[in-house]
Amino acid sequence: MDEIKVRNSGYLKLSPYRDERDGILLIMESMKHVPFEIKRVYVISDFETGVSVRGMHAHKELRQVCFCLRGTLHLTLDDGTSRQKLLVKGMSSTGIILDPGLWHHMEAFSPDCILLVLASEYFKESDYIRDYDEFLRWVKDER
Ligand code: TYD
Repeated sequence: MDEIKVRNSGYLKLSPYRDERDGILLIMESMKHVPFEIKRVYVISDFETGVSVRGMHAHKELRQVCFCLRGTLHLTLDDGTSRQKLLVKGMSSTGIILDPGLWHHMEAFSPDCILLVLASEYFKESDYIRDYDEFLRWVKDER
């Protein structure tokens, strides 16, 4: 996987537990494997390849980690200065950190793609920045 160079992102590597012939466990505990209290978990699936696009926003306070459990997608990360596009493949025990001040979008999903997202807060629409110019202004003010 390419090194993540944009700010407010990075990889979160978990150690999968191989239970011999009984499968692999991927364990995510708050404040232990994941660096925040997990208040919300959501799963995204059933994409239409070439049509589905997700993200296109940034958050002001929310911290998230996204795991690709199956399939592939393209994830574009933008900290307001640098932009980076990653090819993400599942099943991966490495999550991608989506911290505040990071514009992101996801596209080119394979139809079997399944994403698991761990979030530090309950859903709050006012935490979203959905306008790119507003995001650039917000990033400038935060620095
Ligand atoms: P959206 O923020 O676009 O999802 P993503 O972060 O994956 O791009 O949310 C899509 C819709 O689902 C929107 O109407 C808000 C709603 N939603 C919730 O009610 N709770 C949640 O935890 C999430 C992620 C979304």
